[in-house]
Amino acid sequence: MDKIVIEGGVPLEGEVAISGAKNAALPIMAATLLAPGVHYLHNMPRLADIRTFKRVLGLMGVQFEEGGGHGGPPHQHQELPHRPGGPPDPEEDVLVVDASRLTGWMAPYEVVKTMRAAVLVLGPLVARARQASVSLPGGCAIGARPIDQHLKGLEAMGVKITLNQGYVEAKAKRLEGAEIILDIPTVTGTENLMMAATLAEGTTVIHNAAQEPEVADLARFLVAMGARIEGIGTERLTIHGVNALTPTSYRVMSDRIEAGTYLAAAAITRGRVSITNAPVGEMSAVLEKFQEAGVRFTIENSSILVEPSGSLTGVDVKTLPYPGFPTDMQAQFMALMTLAKGASIITETIFENRFMHVPELNRMGADIAVSGNHAVVRGRRHLLGAPVMATDLRASASLVIAGLAAKNTTEIHRVYHLDRGYARLAEKLAALGARLKRMPA
Ligand code: EPU
Repeated sequence: MDKIVIEGGVPLEGEVAISGAKNAALPIMAATLLAPGVHYLHNMPRLADIRTFKRVLGLMGVQFEEGGGHGGPPHQHQELPHRPGGPPDPEEDVLVVDASRLTGWMAPYEVVKTMRAAVLVLGPLVARARQASVSLPGGCAIGARPIDQHLKGLEAMGVKITLNQGYVEAKAKRLEGAEIILDIPTVTGTENLMMAATLAEGTTVIHNAAQEPEVADLARFLVAMGARIEGIGTERLTIHGVNALTPTSYRVMSDRIEAGTYLAAAAITRGRVSITNAPVGEMSAVLEKFQEAGVRFTIENSSILVEPSGSLTGVDVKTLPYPGFPTDMQAQFMALMTLAKGASIITETIFENRFMHVPELNRMGADIAVSGNHAVVRGRRHLLGAPVMATDLRASASLVIAGLAAKNTTEIHRVYHLDRGYARLAEKLAALGARLKRMPA
């Protein structure tokens, strides 16, 4: 198991390109199950979670090929549907997905327990194979995370759900459009139901749908395959079922959380960094909070140009479903607040146990007190390096950010969490001048 060793205190400088969004890439990979044939997915991030998901889809008969910039028949590449925000990067990573043959419909416990997103196969499998067997994910480091809303929606569409030995067994003779009101605007729940509804008979309306940009990106991919979806990006999705979908080429959106993470890293080191290929249109709540805290930056097309800031001010943050401040940026923003003037109150409303970074940041000299779902951060003048570890992806990212600003040496253990969600993190930071090394622990 590797660790990352950081000598803090170096202002970051240079340019960093943001990769494709993990949380858009995963559902889009799942959605390829809906259309037999060969898909070309562009701007795919190189992440452990993507490799894990390839294994899951492999169990279902899906085959993969990787390329670097030449994926897709040329005529399709020219007309590649992609989000606004700049032309595709010629160096970008392409994943060729052949979903012609479906030979299995089971997502085993061994995988789902390590990557909850594997539950995203449920909707597409039921739609295409009329059956699925998916291990219940159970709890994880950040909370209990049930999938009752996924199941409730599928049942409304005529899917018979039973629980057997920890597995959700789903079967349907036919899928019917339904009116679904979600209790919570769940991200992967909305994605599962939207995918299933594309091949249902009739119209499905999902009320209180998640409006996260990654849900919208998946919807655009589905539309590129021939799905009929209205209300993309809103809390009311209307999906008119079609008989079949056809494979396509698609460019996955860039990762707003990765972009926000580099913004925090640049700001905490008082660096001068251009963050390119960032989905700035989908980062408003995050950008506003950084601005309020005194971080100096300008936006130019799809780049965030960060300049060395003066002293930072503590600001309050509450995580909310999109368009609110994302829970996936909470830990990184908290790291920044540890060195701001004054106090900030950070309230986590999405997950009940997402403050595991707090004791580790405190070991680095931060002053953070947690009460329920509030964390009060009192800004300090310095952080001090220490060996630290975290139990989830974003918590680990917050420790890296703290380490970049801390005096002396910080060792981040359990780097595999970072590998799950940050493409080439150590290389990208080193290219910005950070003094850091990845080495065996
Ligand atoms: N919830 C339920 N019942 C359900 C579904 C969700 O009670 O059926 C609850 C959850 O327990 C949680 C809240 O609803 O308290 C929101 O959970 P949601 O379902 O929206 O989260 P998710 O779909 O499991 C995705 C991202 C997470 C991100 C959250 C919130 C993917 C693959 N994962 O998870 O990403 O934090 O939405 O935005 O898209 C990460 O990237 O580090 C990460 C954890």
